[in-house]
Amino acid sequence: MANIFPRWSNLLPFKIAFCLGTIGVGVVLAVGYYATPKAQVVGYQPSQPIPFSHKIHVEQLGLDCRYCHSFVDVSGHSNVPSGNTCWNCHQHVQKDSPKLAPLHRSMNVNYPGYDGKPIEWVRIHKAPDYVYFDHSAHVNRGISCQSCHGDVNQMEVVYQAEPHSMGWCLDCHRSPEKHLRPLEEVFNFHYGDADVSKYSKDKGVTTTLDLGKKLKEQFSVRPKTTCATCHH
Ligand code: HEC
Ligand code: HEC
Ligand code: HEC
Ligand code: HEC
Ligand code: HEC
Repeated sequence: MANIFPRWSNLLPFKIAFCLGTIGVGVVLAVGYYATPKAQVVGYQPSQPIPFSHKIHVEQLGLDCRYCHSFVDVSGHSNVPSGNTCWNCHQHVQKDSPKLAPLHRSMNVNYPGYDGKPIEWVRIHKAPDYVYFDHSAHVNRGISCQSCHGDVNQMEVVYQAEPHSMGWCLDCHRSPEKHLRPLEEVFNFHYGDADVSKYSKDKGVTTTLDLGKKLKEQFSVRPKTTCATCHH
């Protein structure tokens, strides 16, 4: 029987499958992209149900980030604290501050408006659903909160300080040395060149960048840049 299809057509199903596959991934990403509200812009600073100040609690009172964001170095997701964490102190401190009314409503059974519901903090940083991100993978390799969230210790009201775009992620993945710190310094928001001599006596290592380069080699820090790293 004569072959009615030209020879190249044997490959066509594969070519089509290949194209559809590629388009499929593109469509999934594109839909995810356009369906995600674009709240993630630098400067985004929603007002919160309680005017909670990081400046007071971190800079003035000296609390560590992990006192409240207790999962940040052990899981992919960084939690925002529950009312219990605040209540530990505020059942004793600033008890009558009107700013704390929502906390009393949530935690204080003797408060007239008590409803026991969690405080509804407005989320600021949110990666689109098609992006995979992991906090502990960064924090435990020497990347500080400060590199990705700015000077939170100075913020009266939290805002987005960095773009969190794909290009921004990749910039650091290509040259992490600019941001790498000794693990002891990840939560120190005053880390600077003056701290470097504590970690290296080498003549050539005097700035945080010198130390970052050294740490990169020493601990083989190699962030990946393949698509599948961040898009599973
Ligand atoms: C006493 C508890 C407490 C401490 C300590 C604390 N935080 Fe927070 N943090 C909160 C609360 C509550 C919120 C949610 C309300 C807000 O955004 O202000 C928050 C919000 C944030 C957000 C924004 C979350 C979002 O919605 O995207 C970031 C980023 C953040 N904190 C980083 C830090 C860093 C970095 C430190 C250490 C320097 C720190 N926090 C210390 C309680 C705390
Ligand atoms: C370790 C104890 C401690 C924890 C935990 C704590 N605070 Fe405070 N907070 C204080 C102290 C002390 C002050 C007063 C600081 C001052 O007046 O200089 C304060 C002040 C405040 C104020 C300002 C009150 C006013 O009227 O000026 C607010 C609002 C507040 N805290 C909210 C919170 C919230 C919300 C949480 C939980 C996310 C929290 N705090 C967790 C100790 C704490
Ligand atoms: C490499 C960059 C990077 C580092 C380092 C980093 N974060 Fe984040 N953070 C992000 C991104 C991206 C998001 C949004 C993640 C998402 O939507 O899943 C985020 C979200 C958050 C949130 C909001 C989570 C929520 O569900 O409301 C908090 C709180 C937070 N980070 C705190 C911290 C603290 C504290 C540190 C330091 C101990 C830290 N981050 C270090 C990039 C980073
Ligand atoms: C300031 C530097 C920096 C920024 C910004 C950054 N990363 Fe990373 N990332 C790293 C480093 C360092 C590692 C760890 C590499 C290693 O362990 O060798 C890493 C590792 C990862 C991993 C691998 C985690 C695992 O489980 O193996 C993922 C996924 C990732 N980053 C996603 C992101 C995404 C998504 C963003 C942007 C929202 C981002 N990163 C922004 C420095 C950064
Ligand atoms: C280090 C993490 C990381 C890697 C590696 C990465 N991406 Fe992304 N990608 C992101 C983040 C974060 C966003 C969301 C950006 C935003 O919300 O603005 C994104 C968004 C996208 C989007 C949506 C459109 C856009 O540009 O905002 C597409 C398409 C995409 N990525 C494709 C890819 C492809 C193809 C690769 C491999 C060549 C890749 N990504 C590698 C983190 C990464």
